[in-house]
Amino acid sequence: MKLLPTRKFLTGVLATATLGIAAPSSAVPADGVRVYDKVCRYCHETGVGPVLKGRQLPPEYVQRVVRLGNRAMPSFRATEIDDANLAEVAKLIASSTAGAPLGR
Ligand code: HEC
Repeated sequence: MKLLPTRKFLTGVLATATLGIAAPSSAVPADGVRVYDKVCRYCHETGVGPVLKGRQLPPEYVQRVVRLGNRAMPSFRATEIDDANLAEVAKLIASSTAGAPLGR
């Protein structure tokens, strides 16, 4: 009986930890690969959204779409993906190769 609330609490903690990439924390270095794998890959490598890699999309454009969203593309606030992480993932996408893992 006492287990249920604890589980709910843990689920909440885990959800918060997952979104933690977004938390503006200067202690953690920006990690574009991690942002891509945790947030973008979910749609952009599954056919939900267009392929982003290998298209030389300008980093400014990627950042703009992420902040503003566009139709089915959700927008992400700075509390979700901070500026440093967004700049990093945009840079990696811009210089990515189609079909190759990001950042390699
Ligand atoms: C929930 C699914 C979803 C997630 C998560 C998502 N996207 Fe998208 N994205 C889309 C869809 C769908 C489109 C196409 C929107 C349209 O044109 O209608 C799109 C479009 C884009 C575009 C424009 C591509 C073009 O061809 O002009 C960029 C850039 C982009 N997303 C970047 C990102 C980045 C970077 C992330 C991770 C931070 C991300 N997206 C996460 C669904 C998603």
